[in-house]
Amino acid sequence: MNERSSGAELAAILRGELNRYSPGEKLPSSRALMVRHQVSPVTVSRAIAELAAQGLVVTRPGAGVFRAEAAPGAAPGGSGGTAPPDTSWQEVALSAEAGVPPSRSADASGVLAALALAPPEVVDLNSGYLHPVLQPERALAAALARAGRRPGAWGRPPIDGLPELRAWFARDIGGALTASDVLITAGGQSALTTALRSLAAPGAPVLVESPTYPGTVAVARAAGLRPVPVPVDADGLRTDLLADAFAATRARVLVCQPLFQNPTGAVLSAARRPEVLRIARAAGAFVVEDDFARRLVHTDAPALPVPLAAEDPDGVVVHIRSLTKPTSPSLRVGAITARGPAYQRLRAVQAMDSFFVPRPLQETTLELVASPAWSHHLRTLAGALHDRRQTLAVALRQWLPDLLPDRLPYGGYHLWLRLPDGRDDGALAAAALRAGVAVTPGRGYFTAEAPGPHLRLSYACADSPERLTEGVRRLHRAYGEPL
Ligand SMILES: Cc1ncc(COP(=O)(O)O)c(C=O)c1O
Repeated sequence: MNERSSGAELAAILRGELNRYSPGEKLPSSRALMVRHQVSPVTVSRAIAELAAQGLVVTRPGAGVFRAEAAPGAAPGGSGGTAPPDTSWQEVALSAEAGVPPSRSADASGVLAALALAPPEVVDLNSGYLHPVLQPERALAAALARAGRRPGAWGRPPIDGLPELRAWFARDIGGALTASDVLITAGGQSALTTALRSLAAPGAPVLVESPTYPGTVAVARAAGLRPVPVPVDADGLRTDLLADAFAATRARVLVCQPLFQNPTGAVLSAARRPEVLRIARAAGAFVVEDDFARRLVHTDAPALPVPLAAEDPDGVVVHIRSLTKPTSPSLRVGAITARGPAYQRLRAVQAMDSFFVPRPLQETTLELVASPAWSHHLRTLAGALHDRRQTLAVALRQWLPDLLPDRLPYGGYHLWLRLPDGRDDGALAAAALRAGVAVTPGRGYFTAEAPGPHLRLSYACADSPERLTEGVRRLHRAYGEPL
């Protein structure tokens, strides 16, 4: 028997014995397991990693291995319940005709601007991904190496994704979701494309937040959809305008980011959360919840609201989650969840587009999230993002005090600055680049006329906090240039 199969066998034995321990209770030490089951340390660590990936145990370095507190499948903070969801409304939503001739456009300029790499001499305040110094590079390298040694690592994965990874995402998202509601995707962008192509017919309207991530608007238009903006304020999507927007457009899909919205950083308020679901349900529409920044929470954040998907009893919410933002843009692994017939639609569209997500990446992800390095990384990242946000705010207060936002976000990686009326954000971004700092002009975040000029400054992609300060100094120089 080789190490790999004996690891799986030991995991099966330990799984069967888990009920002997209360939630939170310590399991026997690795040494005790080696002696009792006559296996090597490698076999024990493989078995524990498998149980950790399944959420059955948690490992605490230096302390041992403990039975997980909540049984998988329980509903952490969600509506829970075992009654099957009533998703019959989806049949109408998925067949609704648009009645407007579709027109498709393939304008990737917003996406390509977001992906542009700044030359080394330029301070990058534009990119939406972590600088390598903030990425868990060692943990990723170790996970990749371990994944490469997993049995069948280069084999073909199931179309929907590896079962353990689907189960991990279901637990991570919460509510009544199970592994069978989760489709593994190649990150968030691919999930957005799949969602919009699956849930609305060409020519159909789709409600989007205003302002919003340009990549959402780009994939909507490429799918022949008509993005219709609904304003966002400091409390997130304006639910007082939402019912009218559904009534005026007869849209069947709304895309929103309830947590740390890109670009405003807003969190959907507790009062508005049930409103979004109630109004969408009344309109027979899906809510595509792009939860892209949940793992970019800062250390000073209050307890986060659960995803809308965890409080959705009848399949209204299609939830999107990606691991690129808290790790590396190249760990292109994410998940899209749906309950009811919508799931089959999403699965079919993704299978036609790309078959499945490469298995080595899925295996790497499983190795990463099951290792103690994962929670350690998230804690470190929360502290680093907090400190960077503060550094950026201090620099703005010193150099450009009028642009400092009233409220700073407690998650995500960017500040959204309102420029004075009449200021051209595109011209300012161009001048800033000449002065040696890359910033993002706000106009690309609006589907129609922008209500005012804005800039977005990212604090995740500079190589150090000092460079953030230097970036603001350069922006100040550009700001002072004659128009
Ligand atoms: C709001 C939002 N959603 C989705 C994405 C896509 O990210 P990825 O495909 O790397 O997961 C981005 C990237 O910037 C984003 O800002």
